[in-house]
Amino acid sequence: MKFFVDTADIDEIRDLSATGMVDGVTTNPSLVAKSGRDFFEVLDEICETVAGPVSAEVTATDAETMIAEGRKLRARADNIAVKVPLTWDGLKACKALTDDSIMVNVTLCFSANQALLAAKAGATFISPFVGRLDDISNDGMDLISDIRLIYDQYEDFDTEILVASVRNPIHVRESAKMGADVATLPPAVLRSLISHPLTDKGLEAFLKDWEKTGQSILDR
Ligand code: G3P
Repeated sequence: MKFFVDTADIDEIRDLSATGMVDGVTTNPSLVAKSGRDFFEVLDEICETVAGPVSAEVTATDAETMIAEGRKLRARADNIAVKVPLTWDGLKACKALTDDSIMVNVTLCFSANQALLAAKAGATFISPFVGRLDDISNDGMDLISDIRLIYDQYEDFDTEILVASVRNPIHVRESAKMGADVATLPPAVLRSLISHPLTDKGLEAFLKDWEKTGQSILDR
């Protein structure tokens, strides 16, 4: 399973990349606005830092302008995945861009039928938003299992399921159990995956006991 980080904060991306856990990055207009940075400047820095796919979202709503924006974004770096919204125009743009061998991430997916359309349009990634479904009392994870089931019926679908709007470690664990290809994680969620009180307690006890031996590995 791949982990992408869902942020436009370059310091977080650099720091997390050093753990070896970062396979890509996703951004969206809200995350770029939050960074307070110039879009192209921050995009260039992210693409230099991470070798895997870096999603950058178009802001037009008609297919023709989305395609032009997508080509412009892709021209910044080979690892750009153009993000388009799940609308008919977005799907048209998806088809045109993927026909040109440009990676496309179809975003704002909230139903299995939408995911089916995205796969038929040749999307590289489909981004179902689990947290926002949970917010309206739907079970976001049910959507992931439905999409997995549907995609697995058809050998010609190679769209990867990229779980988005991830809010907690349970979303990550359940996504992995369902065979999602990717989860894009806010930095805090990625950091939280390692936490377990018994690991901390066990390590503390081992170190205390080692100290009692008076030995040092590096002095040998
Ligand atoms: O990847 C999409 C994500 O950024 C949306 O997350 O928490 O705003 O629903 P959220």
